[in-house]
Amino acid sequence: MTGPLGRPGPIVLLAVLAPAAIVTVLGYVSLRQWARSSELLFREQARDMASMTADKIGMMLRVTDDELLARLQATLVDGHVTVEAFQAAAPLVDRVYLFDRRGTARYPTTAHADDTIAAGLRTGPAQELWERGGRRELVIGDHVVLAAIVKSASGEPVLAALSRSREGLRRQVFEGTFAALDRATLWEVLDEAGRPVYQRAPLSDADLVASVPFREGLPGWRLALYQSRDASPEKAVRRQVAYLTAALGVLLVVIVAGIVATYRLVRREMEMARLKSDFVANVSHDLKTPLSVVRMYGETLDMGRVTDEAKRREYYRVITRESERLSRLIDNVLDFSRIDSGRRRYELAPTAVEPLVRETVEAFAYPLAQAGFKVDVEIAPDLPLVSLDAEAVRQALANLIDNALKYSAERRLLQVGARLAGGELALDVADRGIGIPASEHDKIFEKFYRVGRSETQGRRGSGVGLALVRHVADAHGGRVTVESRVGEGSRFTIWLPVAPKGERPSRAS
Ligand SMILES: Nc1ncnc2c1ncn2[C@@H]1O[C@H](COP(=O)(O)OP(=O)(O)OP(=O)(O)O)[C@@H](O)[C@H]1O
Ligand SMILES: [Mg+2]
Repeated sequence: MTGPLGRPGPIVLLAVLAPAAIVTVLGYVSLRQWARSSELLFREQARDMASMTADKIGMMLRVTDDELLARLQATLVDGHVTVEAFQAAAPLVDRVYLFDRRGTARYPTTAHADDTIAAGLRTGPAQELWERGGRRELVIGDHVVLAAIVKSASGEPVLAALSRSREGLRRQVFEGTFAALDRATLWEVLDEAGRPVYQRAPLSDADLVASVPFREGLPGWRLALYQSRDASPEKAVRRQVAYLTAALGVLLVVIVAGIVATYRLVRREMEMARLKSDFVANVSHDLKTPLSVVRMYGETLDMGRVTDEAKRREYYRVITRESERLSRLIDNVLDFSRIDSGRRRYELAPTAVEPLVRETVEAFAYPLAQAGFKVDVEIAPDLPLVSLDAEAVRQALANLIDNALKYSAERRLLQVGARLAGGELALDVADRGIGIPASEHDKIFEKFYRVGRSETQGRRGSGVGLALVRHVADAHGGRVTVESRVGEGSRFTIWLPVAPKGERPSRAS
């Protein structure tokens, strides 16, 4: 019966786990790819921004250079203003040099202490200007020099060289340009030897993102772009990756939880299906046995072969007993089906407890005697009338007694009692039978549940008796408890409130 329904097979498990695994792998791979490409994109954008900024600075310098050269030319031609005055008015210019064609210094006439620039101008690329004209930016030593041919007052060509002032560049060009840009980006200008000329802010906590050369104005110099470590692309991407990984993790947890929940649900359903099919088999068997006994005895009597009066009486009694058993079984099943579909109604009425209990035990007198049971009924004196549904309580007690009968072995003792305890009516049914393992104490009250087949082997039953008992107790606002040890016996107690909803029923007798 457990064959194909036994348990969710590995295929089912695989069908759920495989998609989860695929989702995980795909999610992880695409996350890595996304991280890589977004970092590349970020760097590319940063490089573009750096290039644009470097070009802008280059263009600014070109415009300033044009102006400077025009002013120098004017200074030389009209002679009103001295070269010193020109230089003083040009903060971007560090030093001014003027040479004639023969290499004689026209300005300054007294050499600077450090004369690398003068020496550099007398040779090398500066000399090409005499032939080609125009202007050039040269790197001489650690100076950037703008060199061009201008005309002196007398009209002869003069090689003019203006060395760029680092301080001037910092103040006049870089600060203004970078102040206008987004604050999260940190900028650095490096000279031809890689020495920082300008830093927008301390860069100790920043990562280099891009570094580009100045294409104009500052040969050999570079413009570098940094991001503070918190805002660096790696960090941003890493944070995003962490978020997405967490989201993926949550998704996985949800999927796994779903799988587990589904698995348990399926298992429960399968267990229920198994219990139900057992139930049908058990009920059918339980109905069949007494029926065949009744039929056999009935037929025998009908044939008129039984002449012995005592024997005939015996047969009649068997028929009565078996039909009683049948009725009880059918009542149980019908009631259970009413309970299961929520149609069972209880009608409570003040009832005397003693007769109820005694009559119920009495109904089992014959089977108890047949099985050799010692029966002990103990009813506390002066029990009050208790508001209950007599038929339902009788049926509950009958189920407990039936169990005691069924699940006893060598020691056959049935104790039935009614007493008051803690303001409740306690109806006890105890036996010295096979007992119930502690782990099963809760489960036996579930519908269709029967303790492991070996223990109940040979003892038929449909597994609804205790479910019914519990329902009856609950319906009265009470409960049912069990104390039991394997091999020692069991004691079931139905607890019913004596005075439901505060009213106190009048005393019996
Ligand atoms: N007095 C008892 N001693 C030992 N085991 C018991 C006792 N009463 C109940 N059980 C265990 O609890 C299970 C559930 O009992 P329950 O009365 O609900 O079902 P059942 O007796 O098997 O069938 P039925 O519906 O015919 O009563 C039993 O199958 C049995 O294993
Ligand atoms: Mg039972």
